[in-house]
Amino acid sequence: MNDLRIETVQHLDVDVCTRLVLGNEPWIRLGYGPEDVAAIVRSVATSNLLLARSARQVVGFALSSSGMLCGEYLKILAVDASNHGRGVGRQLMEELEKRAFATWPNVYLCVTDFNEGARAFYRRLGYEEVGVLSDLLIPGSGEVLMRKSIGAWRPYCRDSKTLRPRRQ
Ligand SMILES: CC(C)(COP(=O)(O)OP(=O)(O)OC[C@H]1O[C@@H](n2cnc3c(N)ncnc32)[C@H](O)[C@@H]1OP(=O)(O)O)[C@@H](O)C(=O)NCCC(=O)NCCS
Repeated sequence: MNDLRIETVQHLDVDVCTRLVLGNEPWIRLGYGPEDVAAIVRSVATSNLLLARSARQVVGFALSSSGMLCGEYLKILAVDASNHGRGVGRQLMEELEKRAFATWPNVYLCVTDFNEGARAFYRRLGYEEVGVLSDLLIPGSGEVLMRKSIGAWRPYCRDSKTLRPRRQ
């Protein structure tokens, strides 16, 4: 996508979040509703948010938080259904990783076990499946914890020239 821009922002519009999350899988099957959208939007205040824009329209976002297990945790990644397969998800993740790996040696995320497309997408980007948190969101289904690492915490700290935050 030629005109795609990835921006760091501090606000997520409720209508944008509703369009990208509600009405789309995996969130339909996971039972997401307006209250979940409201919680996502509220959590932006204490999270890191990247927006993907094309022709002034928001076509995707990635919301993450810092400091989990020496890493950044991706809470939600959504790309507009009509723009799947055009590199939006990859560019959002590349920007997230560029920022995360400047501070931490890990990026983590959870993906629902039945979401085979997203699991393949993350594997393609170099994420490894660590384990399954069974019956986490809905009964009979699990969240697969995935991790991408550039090394262990100690050598990462030692080798770093910049001041790192305290390990959590
Ligand atoms: C999963 C999702 C974020 C991927 O974003 P996207 O913009 O469609 O993916 P991209 O076009 O950037 O694809 C990047 C790579 O992953 C691969 N990929 C993407 N979707 C894939 C799929 N369903 N199956 C297999 N591979 C896939 C692409 O082939 C591409 O590989 P390449 O760059 O080597 O050609 C997007 O499909 C989405 O929002 N899905 C619904 C919500 C969701 O599942 N979010 C994740 C919740 S954890």
